[in-house]
Amino acid sequence: MPTVLVTGANRGIGLGFVRQYATEGWEVIACCRSPQSADDLNALATQSATSSGGRVQVEQMDVADHASVDALAKKYAGKPMDVLINNAGVPGPRGDNREFIFKQMFGTIDYAAWDDVFRINTMGALKVSEAFAENVAASAEKKIVAVSSTMGSIQEGTMPVFIYGSSKAASNWVVSMMAHELKDRGIIAMTFCPGHVRTDMGGPEAPVEVEDSVSGMRKIIAGLTLDDTGSFKRFDGETVAW
Ligand SMILES: NC(=O)c1ccc[n+]([C@@H]2O[C@H](COP(=O)([O-])OP(=O)(O)OC[C@H]3O[C@@H](n4cnc5c(N)ncnc54)[C@H](OP(=O)(O)O)[C@@H]3O)[C@@H](O)[C@H]2O)c1
Repeated sequence: MPTVLVTGANRGIGLGFVRQYATEGWEVIACCRSPQSADDLNALATQSATSSGGRVQVEQMDVADHASVDALAKKYAGKPMDVLINNAGVPGPRGDNREFIFKQMFGTIDYAAWDDVFRINTMGALKVSEAFAENVAASAEKKIVAVSSTMGSIQEGTMPVFIYGSSKAASNWVVSMMAHELKDRGIIAMTFCPGHVRTDMGGPEAPVEVEDSVSGMRKIIAGLTLDDTGSFKRFDGETVAW
């Protein structure tokens, strides 16, 4: 049974990954900040334990809390992990209230908020990758993927949300460098734009369903080879310009 670790697994795209991998018979290590209130995820774990599908293990991990990342890595030391999905992320100040989103606009940046977003979206993904790289290297598939955004693309990003966009651009750089650093160990590192997806972050008007975004990314993940390391793809397979 192959194993996947997913961060930010309690809702949105992360929960979608857990549901689909579990249905396909994978062992899923589903990480979230607050397992005690992760009702949908806990229900999925109970359901998968009683069906013929995969096994879902719910684990506490806040990607911004390095002690929690190290503690989980210690618990799973020596366990091969085929796919590591760095999905956890935050949008930073935003919302329907224009004053709120202005905190990401030139001239009115909320620098304290930027600290928090960078710690989660950029540093968090790198810290988790460092902590579990040995597990990935010991697996059959050896894949580390990030759920990033076209908003982090220098060439394609058009929305001037400085905080979120820069955190994803930096996350893309991190993936690109990990691809170089980890190639000798046979690890494939790549990054995705999941599309504009109907989640808490994407909003109720977003055109892409979680199920379609996740199945698109899973199909791409399944076909990845070392030739794809360092790539940036949309959930539908299109290449995104860096
Ligand atoms: N939806 C879109 O249209 C869209 C577009 C482009 C990229 N993305 C990216 O896709 C990823 C998933 O987004 P989504 O749409 O599913 O968003 P979402 O519904 O808001 O879910 C975000 C997930 O990240 C978790 N998270 C936040 N901070 C965390 C931390 N410090 N440690 C661990 N988990 C943390 C949240 O946990 P809590 O419940 O504890 O907050 C939640 O599970 C993000 O990286 C996002 O930037 C989304």
